[in-house]
Amino acid sequence: MLEDNQTTAVHQSRAGRYAEVRRRIEVLLEGEDDWIAAMATVACELHGAHDYFHWTGFYRAVSDDLLIVGPYQGGHGCLRIPFDRGVCGAAARSRQTQFVPDVNAFPGHIACSSTTQSEVVVPVVTPQGRLLAVLDVDSDDPAAFDEVDQAELESLCDWLGRTFAETQAL
Ligand code: SME
Repeated sequence: MLEDNQTTAVHQSRAGRYAEVRRRIEVLLEGEDDWIAAMATVACELHGAHDYFHWTGFYRAVSDDLLIVGPYQGGHGCLRIPFDRGVCGAAARSRQTQFVPDVNAFPGHIACSSTTQSEVVVPVVTPQGRLLAVLDVDSDDPAAFDEVDQAELESLCDWLGRTFAETQAL
């Protein structure tokens, strides 16, 4: 019972932090139509809000088979990731969230940083079906992310895809 309550409390505070950061992002981006500015703001706000986010940023879908790094926070990231490589490539290719509790168990994981243990990558797709980017969050903690992270990051990326659907700046 105690354990259940503690688990719930952890989830509530995680969800609470997401609610707060989402409000801040929506206020900061109100009236903004520049997609690069939006990605930079989202990376900064998400990274600052969660202490287990050690690399937080975007890879832009610049063609139908290549991602190039966009705005991010954390140590330097790989610059280019083809769709057929890594966790980010898998998210871009499948347009499905990649939830990876142990990066060493993911075939083809690209180790931009040797300290990364777990990650979640969420595609940003417009309602018209155009892939704009993927949001990549890496942690040095094993299994750092849970279903709250996945649901909140997916909701945020869905909102970004709808809000910046018309952008030509990839
Ligand atoms: N781990 C990612 C590469 C990106 S970085 O770690 C910043 C991947 O396997 O796609």
